[in-house]
Parts: sequence; structure tokens; C-alpha cells
Amino acid sequence: MPRNPCTYLPRRLQIVATLTLFLLASIYFLGTSTTVSPAVDPYLAQIPYAKQLQSSAHHVVDNLDKHLPALGVNVNAPQWLNPFRGAAHTPPPQQANSSSGEARWYSDFKWRNPFSSSVTLDEERAVLPPLRERPPVYTYFDAAGRRKDAVSKQAEQDLLHVWRRAWWAKGFKPIVLGRPEALNHPQYRAVQTLELAPELEMEMMRWLAWANMGTGILCNWLALPMAAHDDPLLSFLRRGEYPELTRYAGLDNGLFVGTKAAVEAALKATINSPDVKTVKSIVEAIPADTITTDSSHSGIAFYSTAIISSKYAAIASKFSLDSTVSEGMSMLPPLINSHLHMTWQNTFTSGIAVLKPLAEHTTTLIAPAIDIARNLSQCPETPIPASCPPNRPRCKPCVSSHMLISTPPVFRNTSTLFTIGTIPHPYTLTSLRHDRTTLDVKFIRRETSRDAWILAATKELLGTGLSSFARLVSVKEIVASEYGSARGLWLTAEYPPEISSSESKDLEELDWTFGFSLPRSPMDDGKSETPVPGRERRPPPPKQEFGDSTPPTDAELANEVRLMELARRHMGSAAGNLAAELKVREVVEAWNLADAEAWKFIRAWEARRTLERRGWVEEEDEFSKGVFHRWIDKIT
Ligand SMILES: *[C@@H]1O[C@H](CO)[C@@H](O)[C@H](O)[C@H]1NC(C)=O
Ligand SMILES: *[C@@H]1O[C@H](CO)[C@@H](O)[C@H](O)[C@H]1NC(C)=O
Ligand SMILES: *[C@@H]1O[C@H](CO)[C@@H](O)[C@H](O)[C@H]1NC(C)=O
Repeated sequence: MPRNPCTYLPRRLQIVATLTLFLLASIYFLGTSTTVSPAVDPYLAQIPYAKQLQSSAHHVVDNLDKHLPALGVNVNAPQWLNPFRGAAHTPPPQQANSSSGEARWYSDFKWRNPFSSSVTLDEERAVLPPLRERPPVYTYFDAAGRRKDAVSKQAEQDLLHVWRRAWWAKGFKPIVLGRPEALNHPQYRAVQTLELAPELEMEMMRWLAWANMGTGILCNWLALPMAAHDDPLLSFLRRGEYPELTRYAGLDNGLFVGTKAAVEAALKATINSPDVKTVKSIVEAIPADTITTDSSHSGIAFYSTAIISSKYAAIASKFSLDSTVSEGMSMLPPLINSHLHMTWQNTFTSGIAVLKPLAEHTTTLIAPAIDIARNLSQCPETPIPASCPPNRPRCKPCVSSHMLISTPPVFRNTSTLFTIGTIPHPYTLTSLRHDRTTLDVKFIRRETSRDAWILAATKELLGTGLSSFARLVSVKEIVASEYGSARGLWLTAEYPPEISSSESKDLEELDWTFGFSLPRSPMDDGKSETPVPGRERRPPPPKQEFGDSTPPTDAELANEVRLMELARRHMGSAAGNLAAELKVREVVEAWNLADAEAWKFIRAWEARRTLERRGWVEEEDEFSKGVFHRWIDKIT
């Protein structure tokens, strides 16, 4: 029992207040069999009587069908039902780019509310955590002086693409700089008048471009993040604050961090250095105490020429002959991509969990997730099988043992397990579970249980004694916290990647989430690729778990497919639906408040991520096209 709050009152009032509270509590608790344990979830402490509010909210739904005719078509049942809605206040302002399709959201630190509408006063607008600031990571790419044949150019473009995608997936904003940024720097002329060694000249251009942009990370485009999301160096870099000008032992000039002031000072010191005409790098030219060296790190892989010659003989031998350099270059992008993929696979040693609560009726529902899991567990194509990234000499190459794919009925918070979750809208789930092509209010009220998905999915994590409302905060944490979002991918059943994307190229969206290109060609895709030994076939679909129930027959599966199709169409466009259908959808949502809330949260979370990426790529594509155009102008 919590402490009696009435002890703070004068003695006589205490008795009255205690009695009143006791009376109210008995009324609330009558009829509910389970009690709420505030110890299980910290949020319960803040949500008084979650269970009671839930049942009273549901009680309103129980009587909904009596009221519906009077409420008319525009009834927005869930909104006035939501018990957590605050007292009347105004909805928060619309933020820029905060909608996509039917998904709408509001980014705010108050996202850990069970119900978004208590903040947004709008059932359809989910509160998401603030978008994480992406610190810029700059690379300098100067096409002048690089090889000009088409194969090399394509390989370099591919490498820049691989580089950008890998850094983006780790929470950065990768930016490709070029000569114009260096030219923009006031010290550019001073540097030009010095007669520098070509190595230092190149280095100065990189630093001028970097200083021109300001505080940040300067990275070679052959240096990539090759580690788990929470690698200490990557976490440090993501913080965006670099108190000291730092270089990294073993990475040569692959990676530097520093403030604008420190970078400017280093440039000045180099220009004024008496040895400027003889030294070959900035680090040699500046006083030793102006730059620190971090020697304990392992998160970055740098494919420098020296590393390639010592570790990847197959490529090094191509580099030794002028006629095969371009061939060697074009082996690098698939090699690096395979290392990124393998590093991901090595991070999740427990495998991939394709979440499958309510197993009897959801085989079709999780099919897109199974597809993604199979592609993720497949061995990447690589020109040098069984090779390891430069920074991870003891990696486990994906040769014969594929990653394990399981279909557990509950979410498991294991740090080495990657979860692919698929949440159905309550409408979809209800129609699948009850094998109904249409739903009506009476049926929902009489025959269906509430919030089946969230109760099932979190049964192990949170036990069985908690109300569905009290589980919402944990589900949101699983999806959107820094810890959770690095270990899971969440989809809505109605908009899986291949359906929500109008063009197949949108499948690449997933590549930006994972930071590498997923294998998506089985063996024979018609491309004239040389067969590479060790290339693995796509793993077969996993044996799915069905708990105590029997696996569905082919006929039952076909029926699931049909019901899913109908549900997708029903959910597809609100505009195309009849008012009566919309009403049913609203009633289903009101009956399953927690499931609907989780569904809307995940829908918005996915939509925002895609929008963020697309907005950036548009901006950045213009820019990198510019880099290449400038190059083409130069050589023609
Ligand atoms: C999962 O585990 C991590 C680490 O143990 C913890 O920080 C996190 O809060 C857990 N998430 C949930 C939803 O319980
Ligand atoms: C997975 O790979 C298959 C071919 O093996 C491909 O058809 C499918 O589009 C891929 N899916 C994703 C999500 O990459
Ligand atoms: C919104 O998105 C558009 C295009 O994606 C972009 O041009 C615009 O700058 C974005 N607005 C904000 C405030 O981010």
C-alpha cells in the first residue's frame, strides 16, 4: 500500500478524507480483478488509476452503439473518449514537415506519454521524440587529379554513396565537400602562394574546406563507421562536441575532430611553420601540443592504400598495374558494403526476432518482416569472401552459419537480438482473428477482446498484471528510444515497405536505416556478375512458432491473405471510404485504445524517418551532383 496521503491534513479532516478516499477507491476497484502495481512501471505513479480509467473508458465504448445514431457521421469517438486528455488547452502548433500521407506527428520531449492526444488534442497526431540532432561529418572529394575513366568514376561515386549511407545510418549528417568550399576560405590565397608538397597541398585543401564549414568531423571517404551503434567512439562523435583537436591512432589522416577555432589555428600554424615547404602533413607542421591523439578506439574502418596493400591482396594486385586500377577500384564498394553488413550481423549474435504475437492468425501479417529478416541474414556478396574489415581483424565472416531467425510470440529485450516488429491496426487484427471481412459495432463490442496485440507482445517484458494503457510507454521506448531504435525495425502491417513505396527504388529506404545495401537478388538476376565462391544462397524462411495452436493450412493462409488485402484497402485511404466504414474504424480504435495508439505512433515514427531521409537526400543530391558537374566541366 502506498502511504496514506491524508496524513498531511489536520487530524479530524484526516479521518473524513481517508474515509472518502476509501469509498472512492472501493467504487473504482469493484469489478476489476487485477490490481495495478506501481512498482512495475514508473509511469503508473503518474497516471492515477490507469486500470480504472481504462475500464471506464471502455465502459463508454460499451454504450457507444446506443449513442452512435445521435452523434452523426462526424463523430470522433476516440477523441472524447481519451481519459488522459488534459483540461482544455490549445493544441501545439504545427511543425514544419510534420506529416506524410495520413500520418501526422508532433516532435516533443513529452513523447513518453501513454497517449499522444493528451499533448496534441488530436487523435491522429502522434507525439514523437524530438528528432535527434545529426552532427555533420565532412569529407573532401576533389575530382581534379583523379582517374577519369568511366569505371573509376562510377566506383568513386559508389564509394561516396556507401560512405554517406553508412554515416547516415549511425546518426550523422554526411556532407561531401569539394574545391569550392576550400576556395571560399579566406586563407586559400595564402596557401596557394606557398609552394607545398603535393600531399600537404591536398591536406590543406581538405582543412580549408573543413574550416570553412566550422566545428565538426573531417573524415576521409574511405573511412567508415564499422561498429555497433553504441560503440564508444561513435557515441562520442554523435554528441557533436569536440573540445580538443584530435586525431586517431592508426587512422592516419582518415579522421579528425575539432572546433572551428582549433582548425583555424592549426591552419595558421601550418602556414607560419618554418618547415612548411618540406613537411607532408599538417600534423607534422603544427606544435605537438595543439593536437591530441586518441589511441583507444576501434569503431572506424579506414581503407587506405596502405591497408589495402597489407590486407586485401586481391585488390592490391589490381592496383599495381595501371590497366587494372579501375577494376580494383570497382571491387571496393561491394567489399566495404559486405563488411558493413557483416559487422551488423556480428553485432546481433542472438539473431533476428520477427515478432509474432497471436501466432494463429498472423502468419501473413508478418510475411514482409520475414522477407526483410531473410535478406538481412543472407551472406552479402563480396569480391573477397571471408575477409574482415580493417578495424575488426577477428570478425566472424558469414560463410556457412546464417544468422538465426526466430518468430517469438513476445518482445524480448536482449541487447544482442535484433527485433523486426509488425504492428497491425486493430481493424486488421480484429478481422484476421475473427475471420471477418466486415466488422460492425455490435460484433466488436460483444465478441472481441481489447488491446490483444499489446497485451500479447509485452506479456513477458511486463508480466500479465498491467493494464494495456500502462504498457504503452514501454512500447514507445522499445520503438523510439536510442537504445531500442538501434535494435529494432518497426513496421505497420498495412504499409510494409514494398506496399508503401510506389517505386521499387524506395526499398532502398531500408538500406539507409541499416547503413548497407541489403542483398536483394537471389542467384540469377540476369546481371553479368562473375560468380564468386562462397556466395551464399538466400536462407530459407524460418520455421515459425505457433505456440499451442496448429499451423494454418494452405486454405487458411489464403484466407489470411484475402483478409489482409481487404483490411489494407479499408485502411488505405480515408477519403475513399464510406462514412459507415470510417465509423467502424473509429469504434475499433476506441475499443482498442492502446493498440491504436501504438499503431499510430509507429506509423508516424516510420513516416518521419523516411521524410527526414528524403528531404536530406534531395538537398544533398543537388550538392553532390554539383561536385561531379564541376568535375566534368573541368575535364571537358
Ligand atoms: C531494455 O534493456 C535496456 C538495457 O538493459 C534498458 O536500458 C531498457 O530500458 C530496456 N527497455 C525496456 C523497454 O524495458
Ligand atoms: C529481399 O530479397 C528478395 C530477393 O531475394 C527481393 O525480392 C526482396 O525485394 C528483398 N526485400 C527487401 C525488403 O529487401
Ligand atoms: C520541408 O521539406 C522540404 C522538402 O522536403 C524542404 O525544402 C524544407 O526545407 C523543409 N522544411 C523544413 C523547415 O525543414
